Amino acid sequence: MNKEELVQALSPGADTAAFFALADETRKKYVGDGVHLRGLLEFSNHCRRNCRYCGIRAGNPKVRRYRLTTGEILDCARAAVALGYRTVVMQSGEDNHWGPKELVKIVDEVKKATGLAITLSVGEYTKEEYKDLRKAGADRFLLRFETSDRALFAALKPDSDYDRRFSCLAWLKEAGFQVGSGVMAGLPGQTLESLADDILLFKKMDLDMVGIGPFIANPDTPLAGSPGGTLDLALRMVALTRIVTRNAHIPATTAMGSIDPQGRQKALRCGANVLMPNISPVEHRVDYSLYPGKICVNDQPEQCAGCVDAMLRSLGRSRAGGFGHSLKKA
Ligand code: SAM
Ligand code: FES
Repeated sequence: MNKEELVQALSPGADTAAFFALADETRKKYVGDGVHLRGLLEFSNHCRRNCRYCGIRAGNPKVRRYRLTTGEILDCARAAVALGYRTVVMQSGEDNHWGPKELVKIVDEVKKATGLAITLSVGEYTKEEYKDLRKAGADRFLLRFETSDRALFAALKPDSDYDRRFSCLAWLKEAGFQVGSGVMAGLPGQTLESLADDILLFKKMDLDMVGIGPFIANPDTPLAGSPGGTLDLALRMVALTRIVTRNAHIPATTAMGSIDPQGRQKALRCGANVLMPNISPVEHRVDYSLYPGKICVNDQPEQCAGCVDAMLRSLGRSRAGGFGHSLKKA
């Protein structure tokens, strides 16, 4: 699809039935009916940055900060194995405390203790540091570029650099990571043209994974009171991304489930093939509030596993086998 067609399909008035069905068929053909479950471990909510949309930004004094110990991280990773997950996604703010050396040690220990595939989502590091993390055993890395619109990026991420973010994505690929990126849909000032550009960029970058979620305004951030993205727009983005990228792994994101109780189910029906059940210790979940209304904050990891399995059954889908590595390399 070209930009004009993408803008047309993203427009609120355009009918979704035909292209959602095409996205579902494309998903079935290129990635199958299996859904990969990745255990999401939010291991620190310390962050040095001040992204204007984000609840755990450094400038939010209301956040009760926490950082799991290596022992706690290992316990959570072992619990993920017991729940039958084959991947742990280790996510945090850009925490100065975890110098790359400490993080390398933790990755190495998690890998040795569990054999899980490890996905990191820890923000911007240097080229050499990414290489060290890869060598230590991390397999994949998620770093959303958030928006391809340079001016919007600068307005929303005042202490980040657009070109540097894309350099990081190139370095990750060079280091041998399976690379995921993505965006938020419905950011204040975001146009349908820029969302169409985002999709074309996913394709051009040949991403292994693409994460898309609606922007949800957090009352404790400078974007408090902004309208936020709709599920409809986020689903259109998922469906079009499936059609355009074909075999990228695309999650039905927590943010989608947070703005609509059926959000993740709907995403799985129009292109998504991954779920990321939370495996973080329950006592810390409320402190990783990127946005209000986040689902699963009071659920034990076993409850989240039961919930996603029931969801899959209701959709006539099932857990995919294997680690769920990138299909781009196949
Ligand atoms: N620090 C790492 C980074 O920036 O890549 C990873 C953690 S960051 C909290 C993970 C993702 O949360 C971001 O890429 C962003 O897209 C999403 N996010 C943050 N605030 C959000 C909000 N208010 N609504 C929806 N998604 C949000
Ligand atoms: Fe750092 Fe959101 S501002 S994780």
